[in-house]
Amino acid sequence: MPQAQIIDGKILAERLRAEVAQEVAQLKRSHNLRPGLAVVLVGADPASEIYVRSKGEHSLAVGMHSLTHRLGADTGQAELLALIGELNADPAIHGILVQLPLPEGLDERCVLAAIDPDKDVDGLHVVNAGRLASGLPALTPCTPLGCMIMLRETLGDLSGKRAVVIGRSVLVGKPVAQLLLAADCTVTIAHSRTRDLPDVVREADIVVAAVGRPEMVRGDWIKPGATVIDVGINRVPFRDPVKAAQGKTKVVGDVHFRSAAQVAGAITPVPGGVGLMTVACLLKNTVTAAKRLRGIGER
Ligand code: GUN
Repeated sequence: MPQAQIIDGKILAERLRAEVAQEVAQLKRSHNLRPGLAVVLVGADPASEIYVRSKGEHSLAVGMHSLTHRLGADTGQAELLALIGELNADPAIHGILVQLPLPEGLDERCVLAAIDPDKDVDGLHVVNAGRLASGLPALTPCTPLGCMIMLRETLGDLSGKRAVVIGRSVLVGKPVAQLLLAADCTVTIAHSRTRDLPDVVREADIVVAAVGRPEMVRGDWIKPGATVIDVGINRVPFRDPVKAAQGKTKVVGDVHFRSAAQVAGAITPVPGGVGLMTVACLLKNTVTAAKRLRGIGER
């Protein structure tokens, strides 16, 4: 039996989507503004297909304008850049997301750099990374934003807490570390070359695991009572040889849930945790972008 409080991504994501829906309705009433999100999918990666469909459905469900562009895997760089140019110029579109990974032959950095930073609801443009690091209003990557909502919900004020982020990716590790720092945590970013990683993690009041290694973080790495946010989504074969032989897989996080939940004060499950927050945060970012583009509220 886990002793830790389970941080429920389903409930928190539902609540956030309901708040976004309310704000969308309010913007319509007060400013005749309907936030619009454009999602671009190049190729037919099955996992990306599922994510993109979910983004479109959720944007419509909260009352936003939604556009999905599906391009063939043979799309050239110039064609993709031309589409981004059109979306940058489209006044009905306030958020643009190009689903990653892109098929081979397309230059991801160059594509992300072509998105208007004020419509970059993924928060991956270097201008938004720079704004975040400089303490300026930025569009922030969605998964890190989801992690912060879960932490604030669980712990309230984060000031003075020791946080260890495992992983230094542009998508999660670096931005979540910046957000924790902005929340006055003392932040360590650990990675594959960190020495004595379990000892480093044992210092943490807050652990954010975003390494992409199935169940790497074990219960005996966790300080008793710590809050554990597991960002990992790893597909692994079942240990049961019959199911494994049938090619069946399951999803596990970067944290070994069973052992960690015996020690932690609170922990996110996988599935059912951070992953569910990501799309809700994308909707939130689209509303933020729409308001800033129209000069509504704080900039
Ligand atoms: N593919 C997996 N995660 C993401 C994400 O956060 N943004 C984009 N654009 N593509 C992804």
